[in-house]
Amino acid sequence: MVDKILVVDFGSQSNQLIARRLREHHVFSELVSYENLMSTLENDPHVKGLVFSGGPNSVYEEDAPFIDSQVYQLGIPILGICYGMQMMVTQFDGQIRKDKNHEYGKVSLTILEDNKLSKDTPKQQIVWMSHQDQVVKLPFVFDNFAQSKTCHVAMIKHKEKPFYGVQFHPELTHSEYGNTMLKNFAFNVCQIKNLWKLDDFIKEQVESIQNKVKNDRVLLGLSGGVDSSVVALLLRKAIGSQLVCMFIDHGLLRENEAEQVKEVFEKKHQLQLHVIDAKDEFYDKLQNVSDPEAKRKIIGETFIRVFERESKKFENIRYLAQGTLYTDVIESGTKTAQSIKSHHNVGGLPKDIDFELIEPLNMLFKDEVRLVGKQLELDETILQRQPFPGPGIGIRIMGEITLEKIKIVQQSDTIFHTILNETGLNDHIWQAFTVCTNTKTVGVMGDMRTYAYTLALRAITSIDGISADVADIPMSVLKRISSEIINQIPQVNRVVYDVTTKPPATIEWE
Ligand code: XMP
Repeated sequence: MVDKILVVDFGSQSNQLIARRLREHHVFSELVSYENLMSTLENDPHVKGLVFSGGPNSVYEEDAPFIDSQVYQLGIPILGICYGMQMMVTQFDGQIRKDKNHEYGKVSLTILEDNKLSKDTPKQQIVWMSHQDQVVKLPFVFDNFAQSKTCHVAMIKHKEKPFYGVQFHPELTHSEYGNTMLKNFAFNVCQIKNLWKLDDFIKEQVESIQNKVKNDRVLLGLSGGVDSSVVALLLRKAIGSQLVCMFIDHGLLRENEAEQVKEVFEKKHQLQLHVIDAKDEFYDKLQNVSDPEAKRKIIGETFIRVFERESKKFENIRYLAQGTLYTDVIESGTKTAQSIKSHHNVGGLPKDIDFELIEPLNMLFKDEVRLVGKQLELDETILQRQPFPGPGIGIRIMGEITLEKIKIVQQSDTIFHTILNETGLNDHIWQAFTVCTNTKTVGVMGDMRTYAYTLALRAITSIDGISADVADIPMSVLKRISSEIINQIPQVNRVVYDVTTKPPATIEWE
């Protein structure tokens, strides 16, 4: 079994990053709740270290989260980050107070004395701070090893036990040597020995799927996106022809998408794909509907209905495989985010389905899924695919969805991507697509007046889709895209480029 470091979640926006950074060093790490931490630890002998994450609370607030202080008796190495450090200080009878200054952003840190955490990092370094609370009384069992101009207690260590704390955020790349410090914590403090490798992950998953499934059959809804495609290859490796792959064509896909996905899986991966043509069913239900939320709901519900009906046609299926990622698990488990759009459940599957679930990726982050896909030799075009939303181009057509608008979006999307690929710009873009705005404007072609649709181009850079920046496409390329779209698609006479970041806008228009 591999050694683990658990990241105890106190609600910081960057808590997932801590686990990701540790995994980059092949140290297995997962997020756990601060509640019931003692029983989590009692049941897991492989935990070699704990990181207490930052969080939005102040320790002196009434309902501030605290761990059970018995955890300190176990002697497991600890790294407290920001709130995590302040909580530890409080539990050892130190004191935290709000400072009049909010220290936010890049700050110069001075290491006053070398220690295991700061090994291989310089005395003077830049770190990322984001706090208003500060340690004003350090418990006598702790020593301070670093300070910034306004924060006098920035890096602490217990005199006898392997308990460390930092006021800054080592998990953020803005902290120049943060990654080295996390590595030092793992290897110098926690003494991690048994490393976690993706090769082992594939082997373990294949074995565990084989042990679970035995001679039964598994159904997979394959969308052609990276996640479900990686699940398909893992399952094929594990159980061969006992895997049944179903692809639902809701008629809101990109141009020739269903054919391309079928070809890749059947020709390159020798995986038979059952394509269900449900276009007309979706189009019927979407007639005369123009409200964005109503469209999303109809597409989501119809998808579920089609899936249920069609899955019953295959016999002897006991399991359903899904490409759930670790991020989905954490988010549904710990967050109660406000619903901006009835979102990522669209294109999802029924909750009360009659199958047992297999979710082999539910411990992986997106970038790790790509690495697994690469090792399983997943076709490069699928591996490098941009994210595509479950409701497809249904949310890129404003107003009622009509066959004419579907065609406009599909054709223009192909033109847009062809040029982005030719110019190499797509390599730096996270997602790019076209939107039929449902607005008609006046134009002139030859001597003729036209009255046709305005089409919007959207291209963004992002790391995770949570926030996004507008992609810098040179004006000459934008002009070329515009003229090719207008020349090839008579229903469009005007092209605009969406220059809004997220937030305040979302990536998709609906
Ligand atoms: P927004 O528009 O919220 O989108 O900024 C963020 C990312 O999520 C994708 N997206 C979806 N993906 N089902 C999905 O599987 C959905 O219903 C859905 N809606 C948006 C969007 O393409 C972007 O990558």
